[in-house]
Amino acid sequence: MKIPVCSPVIPENAKKYVCNAIDRNWVSSRCLDEEVNYLKKLEEGFSQYIGVRFGTAVTSGTTALDLAVAALGIVPGDEVIVPDFTMIATVSAVIHNGAVPVFVDADPGTWCMDATRIEEAVTEKTRAIIPAHIYGYPCDMDAIMETAERHGIPVIEDAAEAIGTVYKGKMAGSIGRIGCFSFYANKTVTSGEGGMLVTDDEELYTKAAMLKDQGFGEPRFIHEEIGFNFRMNNLTAAYAFASFEEAGEYVKSKIRNARAYSELLAGIDGITLPPRGGDDIVNSYWMYGILIDERQFGLSKTEVRKRLKEEFGVDTRDFFYPMHKQPALLKKGFVKDGSSMPVSWRLWEKGMYLPSSTDIRPEEIKYTADALKRLKKRG
Ligand SMILES: Cc1ncc(COP(=O)(O)O)c(C=O)c1O
Repeated sequence: MKIPVCSPVIPENAKKYVCNAIDRNWVSSRCLDEEVNYLKKLEEGFSQYIGVRFGTAVTSGTTALDLAVAALGIVPGDEVIVPDFTMIATVSAVIHNGAVPVFVDADPGTWCMDATRIEEAVTEKTRAIIPAHIYGYPCDMDAIMETAERHGIPVIEDAAEAIGTVYKGKMAGSIGRIGCFSFYANKTVTSGEGGMLVTDDEELYTKAAMLKDQGFGEPRFIHEEIGFNFRMNNLTAAYAFASFEEAGEYVKSKIRNARAYSELLAGIDGITLPPRGGDDIVNSYWMYGILIDERQFGLSKTEVRKRLKEEFGVDTRDFFYPMHKQPALLKKGFVKDGSSMPVSWRLWEKGMYLPSSTDIRPEEIKYTADALKRLKKRG
């Protein structure tokens, strides 16, 4: 059997909606035909689903984050607190805007930014905090918001991996001032590439919508601000909207798949399962991650990954490589000398994620779990 780590589900209405937009000739980011205005349908539908008033569609999760930092008026010399254990887009958004990232280690229980370590990272230059909900599990948002509010610092939630994640009754992405989502091909709602910035703050929304569109205002071609072209086009929006229509089902499948993995892998020495959440926390399990303890399991995670692929055809991925070890960030001097982030380093050393396609079949989950058990026995 060959099992990919993640392949996108093609939504039922994708072709129909994309063809509708083509047939009516509304293919750019401007659409004046209500019936095929998929940008508007997506922005309104998605922000409502997240539980905020406004959403503006962009070209990726990365550009959503870049735009969020810009919309908050963050400028060179400012500092922004970011997780050490994340995908680099959380950090590059800060650097693209000329600001300085300040890293915080991960929490060993949630794999997200350790909320108890944020206070020590705050200085008089701190202008934002960007927690990232890792692999679908939410950060400790109560603690993060408490610290942020005490210092008057806005929070941008990097919810790229957290469509459908719930924290104490609120959707991830709706708790901070701004939420940023990705619609990349491996995301739960996808259009191949794409993203969305959401907020409840009308002023911020208006600024973000203006900045993503080259800073155009009235009269046209007179610009008060230097903006970007981060506009999503209506063809991408048509596809994304078809995918979004199925979001509820996709999230249910992700959770069902994760439960199946957890039942099959429970109690195996040397395997740590992902955080489960509780009554008021829903892990949407964007990816099903595990930690392999080499001493107890008998193989390192690198050996496990290699053998799963070579002997069983099961594709997996490494966890994120910690930011404080990234050559690009070291070269540019963004990492303080002697920085040590032991939790995020341990996550990298031990962590991998298993095949997590939304439509993975139960027999594929069982096959993967059995392969892990056989590796453990054989060593
Ligand atoms: C935590 C996190 N932030 C941001 C992004 C960037 O999203 P995109 O790939 O759509 O640019 C990703 C993508 O995987 C991510 O995992």
